[in-house]
Amino acid sequence: MIRPQIFVTYALPAPVLARLAQVCDYRIGSQHSPLERSALLAGVRDAHGIVSLITDRIDREVIEAGQHVRIIANVGVGYNNVDVAAARQRGIVVSNTPDVLTDSTADLTWGLILAVTRRIVEADVFTRAGRFTGWDFELLLGSGLNGKTLGIIGYGRIGRAVARRATGFGMNVLYCGRDEVAFRDDPPREVGIPPQPTTSTLTASARLDGLSARRVGFHRLLEQADIVTLHIPLAAVSRHLINRPALGHMKPTAYLINTSRGEIVDETALVEALESGRIAGAGLDVYEQEPAVSPQLLQMPNVVLLPHIGSATTETRTAMAMLAVENVIDLFSGHTPRNAI
Ligand code: DGY
Repeated sequence: MIRPQIFVTYALPAPVLARLAQVCDYRIGSQHSPLERSALLAGVRDAHGIVSLITDRIDREVIEAGQHVRIIANVGVGYNNVDVAAARQRGIVVSNTPDVLTDSTADLTWGLILAVTRRIVEADVFTRAGRFTGWDFELLLGSGLNGKTLGIIGYGRIGRAVARRATGFGMNVLYCGRDEVAFRDDPPREVGIPPQPTTSTLTASARLDGLSARRVGFHRLLEQADIVTLHIPLAAVSRHLINRPALGHMKPTAYLINTSRGEIVDETALVEALESGRIAGAGLDVYEQEPAVSPQLLQMPNVVLLPHIGSATTETRTAMAMLAVENVIDLFSGHTPRNAI
């Protein structure tokens, strides 16, 4: 029997490749750097499946080049790098890797919250520069968390995991989900979408997962939160969700945290808001033109910048890769891939 040929765009951990080899043959695209476009196009040509990273642009051209491809197993919970509509037209299954990165991403979100509010990176730079000459009453004063309000935009797996951690810090939690984001609190007529059949999304309260998290409208969340943290997938409705007007609703003492996708924030508007003191600071793991970072952000001491490492623990990355491969194996064993989108 012919074994399926899988194009794995990046050299994944050995145990993951060993698992794939139990059912499929595979070819690796790149050992340690993102795959060149030409190599991607060539690699998919004879493949029956692709295991891709979020940095691989699997667009219509790639999908058409892979005439025999039956599955695109993306190693990531986000799959905005894959043209899902084009894949669907060709009957190709697209899968992602939810759940396994929830905790590491929520942990890193808290790392950013603490780093930016307690000025940890600034303090580290200060100490390494030999500027610590003795305890000082007013040295590097930050902003406390206890009793403050955390505003979570996007209340899926990661948003909830961030909320759970907030209870340990004594914070109040507000959240809004995709509906509130879609409506931006505006009357439906104004944004051209039909009214919701349910009760108002603007003030509904909820106790979920035993947490006292309150569901509020998008603008109310921005106005009341001391920290606004983004956990919504990138889609047409969320692109530039945090733009100039949205930043204008935030408190001047508030911080913005983004560990989701860079394009959810209008980075030019964010730079303006930080430069003008419209908001107090930001903690970012993702960027609008990734991997480029706005040069102004690089100069700002009240901003903590990370290189998209939300899921970057050895355990999580291995689990993500393994889950992607399990989806491939599901398909070629005659089952629906467990994380088919
Ligand atoms: C994802 O999975 O979408 C993250 O951004 C990368 O881990």
